[in-house]
Amino acid sequence: MAVTRTFSIIKPDATRRNLTGAVTKMLEDAGLRVVASKRIHMTKEQAEGFYAVHKERPFFGELVDFMISGPVVVQVLEGEDAVKRNRDVMGATNPSDAADGTIRKTYAESIEANSVHGSDSDENAKIEIDYFFDADEIVG
Ligand code: PPS
Repeated sequence: MAVTRTFSIIKPDATRRNLTGAVTKMLEDAGLRVVASKRIHMTKEQAEGFYAVHKERPFFGELVDFMISGPVVVQVLEGEDAVKRNRDVMGATNPSDAADGTIRKTYAESIEANSVHGSDSDENAKIEIDYFFDADEIVG
């Protein structure tokens, strides 16, 4: 299986509870390698741009406000079939639907404060990686 990349965000609910290391450990234990990482506090414009695909959804404003409520850690993850591997370890969007052993089942507080974001396709992974990282910030 091909080694690919995906994009991950450790969300404000997780950084607030000092879970950056714990979440990263679960990603690494799932076979993903962190090849880029930075802690940032997104601007409103940055968050609105990142989530533009959801702008018609009723929760858009709340989602943006949540994502700028504190620092996040944006990461590029590498591994075999990285997008699927990451989504499997993340678990379902709503933690009450997430399987045991997943990041969201273990740490998420709600469907909004759900600790992690992960790209949903190889195509979106490239777009999302390019949104936050320059090529020279990624060291495989
Ligand atoms: S998914 O995984 O993209 O299919 O999930 P989806 O349901 O489409 O949700 C997209 C993102 O919106 C967040 N979300 C919400 N935020 C606030 N309030 C409500 N009710 C809500 N429902 C969904 C969800 O966490 C997804 O965020 P990301 O960062 O993409 O994982």
